[in-house]
Amino acid sequence: MTSPDTVSDLPTGMQLTALDEIYRERPHIYLDALRDRDPVHRDDVLDRYVLTREADVAALMRDRSLSLDPANAPPGSFGALVLGSTGGDKSMLVLDDPDHKRLRGLVSKAFNLRSIEALRPRIAAVAERLVAALPEGKPFDIIGGLAAQLPLVMIAEMLGVDPADSADFYRWSHGAEQGFNPAKTPEQDAKLRANDAALSAYLRRAVEARRADRRDDLISAMVTAEEDGDRMTTAEIVTMCKLLLIAGNVTTTDLIGNAVLALLENPRELAWLRTHPDRIGDAVEEVLRYDPPVTQTVRIALAPVSVGGTTVGAGASIMPSLLAAGRDPACHADPHAFHIDRPHHTHHAFGGGAHFCLGAPLAKVEAQVALVTLLARFKVLELDNRPRTRKAAPSFNGFDELWVTGRT
Ligand code: HEM
Repeated sequence: MTSPDTVSDLPTGMQLTALDEIYRERPHIYLDALRDRDPVHRDDVLDRYVLTREADVAALMRDRSLSLDPANAPPGSFGALVLGSTGGDKSMLVLDDPDHKRLRGLVSKAFNLRSIEALRPRIAAVAERLVAALPEGKPFDIIGGLAAQLPLVMIAEMLGVDPADSADFYRWSHGAEQGFNPAKTPEQDAKLRANDAALSAYLRRAVEARRADRRDDLISAMVTAEEDGDRMTTAEIVTMCKLLLIAGNVTTTDLIGNAVLALLENPRELAWLRTHPDRIGDAVEEVLRYDPPVTQTVRIALAPVSVGGTTVGAGASIMPSLLAAGRDPACHADPHAFHIDRPHHTHHAFGGGAHFCLGAPLAKVEAQVALVTLLARFKVLELDNRPRTRKAAPSFNGFDELWVTGRT
């Protein structure tokens, strides 16, 4: 099947299937058409409603009556599959209040803006080391060389992983990335389970070690954390650590990769950024709007609810397209243009409401520092012309490899 070039080439009554190759490579052809023709789209193939208007996505994110607990969706439905796909103990991402509020309260301090700003010099030192190791004048993969490493090294340091264990820890963390893929093959599933068992055992040992001997790290902070006399159990801390890894690493990697691609495909914007380095924050916000690492999230209706003017029934899965919301012409002029100096960069790349991404400040600072460090070393950066393939996992948006050449 050839890829449609414009909205008018699309068949009427189309179904949006996120696993479809055309959707993966050229999603905005579909999403623009949906927004125009059917903004609260009933997708029978994947049993869900798809929202594409920014205003509807924003309203949905604000609605705290909705659930992220897969137990509230019928078995086999989109919500049950996506939210249940991480397996094992339920993390706070898929818990509703009061359990969600309790767990989030116990870890939120470590991730607030002030704690993360205090880490900026350390993030810069790690980025310097990684960027200095990139070759000059010949192609390198920016994902493997920088984007995948910076978030992993930082979260390992924050948790307090011993340097001697870091190679194992990095391997297990990469292995955990399949966790959010609802379309795993049996082989991928078996690998994920073995990986999960090894990572969980390692983390359990680390938690027990910190109970006996506290240090200045996040696992110790979770061991000590107390709210209303409440403590986190070992199982809860292990689950939280795994959530931080799967929610934080691949997403931040993709943010850095997508930022490099957007800048190199838009050389005028890159040149403008080089002359306006204080606008690095806006550059990262624009990437989050234009090419967000997480394309979609899910909410489950606990009772009939009005969504974008349509009433959906109890148990329905509602999928706000974070990708489509960032390109809504009702919110942004010339939405398909990458433009750092926009009046605003309104986006929903970090979700919203009670589950708004805990790691947003960390991800933003890491991306800012990675880009600043990269641009400082290489006065010229160019895309290599080898073909690129977007990730197959439908909720994640990025590349496994992105080859570039840099000259100092
Ligand atoms: C939740 C995106 C980085 C930890 C989420 C959600 C999204 C998201 C879309 C779901 C929100 C919802 O459904 O309303 C991103 C993106 C990132 C990123 C795009 C990078 C650019 C990180 C990092 C960490 C992290 C670095 C931590 C190290 C979490 C956690 C949750 C979450 C713990 C669950 C929050 C809750 O349930 O209360 N993130 N994330 N994320 N993220 Fe991130």
